[in-house]
Amino acid sequence: MGCISALGMAEPSNISKYCTGKMVYINVAVCLAVLLFVIGLSVGLSVNTFKGRDALDSTPLIDGHNDLPHNLYQKLSNNLSAFHFEKDLRNDVVWGSTVCSSCYTDLPRLIEGKVGGQFWVAYTACGSQYKDSVQLTLRQIDVIRRLIHRYPANLQLVTDAADIEVAWRSGKIASMIAVEGGHSLDSSLAILRLYYDLGVRYVTLTHTCNTPWADASTVNDGYVYNLTEFGQTIIHEMNRIGMLIDLSHVSHNVMKEVLAVTRAPIMFSHSSAFGVCGNYRNVPDDVLHAVKKNNGIVMVNFYSVFVNCNTSRNATMQDVVDHINYIRNLIGVDHVGIGGDYDGVNSMPEGLEDVSKYPDLFDRLYESREGEPTWTKEDLEKLAGRNFIRVFQAVESVRDSLSSEPPREDIIAGDELYIAQKNEGLNPGACQTAKEWNGVNVTDAEQKETRTKRHQA
Ligand SMILES: *[C@@H]1O[C@H](CO)[C@@H](O)[C@H](O)[C@H]1NC(C)=O
Ligand SMILES: *[C@@H]1O[C@H](CO)[C@@H](O)[C@H](O)[C@H]1NC(C)=O
Ligand SMILES: *[C@@H]1O[C@H](CO)[C@@H](O)[C@H](O)[C@H]1NC(C)=O
Ligand SMILES: *[C@@H]1O[C@H](CO)[C@@H](O)[C@H](O)[C@H]1NC(C)=O
Ligand SMILES: *[C@@H]1O[C@H](CO)[C@@H](O)[C@H](O)[C@H]1NC(C)=O
Ligand SMILES: [Zn+2]
Repeated sequence: MGCISALGMAEPSNISKYCTGKMVYINVAVCLAVLLFVIGLSVGLSVNTFKGRDALDSTPLIDGHNDLPHNLYQKLSNNLSAFHFEKDLRNDVVWGSTVCSSCYTDLPRLIEGKVGGQFWVAYTACGSQYKDSVQLTLRQIDVIRRLIHRYPANLQLVTDAADIEVAWRSGKIASMIAVEGGHSLDSSLAILRLYYDLGVRYVTLTHTCNTPWADASTVNDGYVYNLTEFGQTIIHEMNRIGMLIDLSHVSHNVMKEVLAVTRAPIMFSHSSAFGVCGNYRNVPDDVLHAVKKNNGIVMVNFYSVFVNCNTSRNATMQDVVDHINYIRNLIGVDHVGIGGDYDGVNSMPEGLEDVSKYPDLFDRLYESREGEPTWTKEDLEKLAGRNFIRVFQAVESVRDSLSSEPPREDIIAGDELYIAQKNEGLNPGACQTAKEWNGVNVTDAEQKETRTKRHQA
């Protein structure tokens, strides 16, 4: 006898044919027990089986910073014919972890890691500043675009906020382009605008070298230029065209100066909390408060050296959890994201060994330990991608609201270039032919150069 007839919902006349009255009562009791058990189990399941990683099924996980393109340059001179992104490269003779300490990325592991959106970074070393930085940056933008077009089933070029989710829903990694280091602009607004036209959506204002208009984190608490007037013009133009401003790598003073003048939210694509580990690449508390006011985002860097300041032990996933929770506790869950820095560094925490590990981090955050904030599914979705999408959309709205503003036509002063190159120990202007060099007053520039030097920390 089935439960339906035992509960008297069907064929009541048949019951008397096959069962005594007592049997019916026993069956009803058994069926009720089974029913309650099933209900209890399904309620229990829906509570207990949610894992933090499941948040990555309802929102794209967007990582703010991956330097694979730089490895492509270093190892293959950007020859993609020799690169097998579709293969698991863990034990590859070129890309495996035992032969390459900065290699963490391939398609199988990105898929295992549930990565839904990725900024691929066009980076050229600071040694190219005042030399061939623009050409080298263009080559990196080119290799990123070629990589995306080579894997159309897995990657899709995305240049606006709305398309991140569209690409991700169709099973592809929303692939965005970033330029890391203001030296790649060669102090030119024209180059900034053309990068945008090539699909670049954020520019990190410096790498480890100062530009003539903004200081890098290497000045620590001091300053050489801070953000100059020309630097402010660059911020102004980035706001106007809709280029996201990335404050990772800049000095703490420049973070503050930019936050004071930007008309759009900013991002830190790969920086952690100075309050947890006092490395100048990390974001100090006063700046975190300003990020909250600005409605921006800090995408937490995993690099062992930035997350763990204790040299007598190895970094672990717990360190990254501590940075994420610190930022959340200080300024709220709306201003934190993920910027792993895979392929840009040579040491990652235990538990976050490569790009396949992000889901473990989300599981870990969800099972919060004593003293940690409670992460709901919605909170995890914000961390994964919702916060970044909000920032990106806000930057687009500011761009749209400024559409009547004409492009800025400022050219950096020759004197400023002269001083900056002199500071770098170069022979100023030796490799430049642009018009602005004609007006340089060498006597005046030499005097100013001596003055800027005095402030270096
Ligand atoms: C690029 O790599 C492929 C595959 O290894 C090789 O056959 C080809 O010669 C390389 N091209 C150049 C220009 O090095
Ligand atoms: C540099 O920037 C910091 C932060 O905004 C500011 O406090 C400081 O006065 C600036 N220094 C100069 C010389 O502009
Ligand atoms: C650094 O790590 C060691 C080894 O785990 C530990 O004994 C020590 O207390 C830590 N130091 C600090 C300042 O946390
Ligand atoms: C730290 O990591 C290195 C390399 O991953 C490993 O060889 C070493 O045993 C680790 N040290 C500790 C204290 O766990
Ligand atoms: C160059 O600068 C010096 C020092 O400021 C000044 O005395 C001199 O008049 C300037 N020369 C020209 C040609 O402007
Ligand atoms: Zn970096």
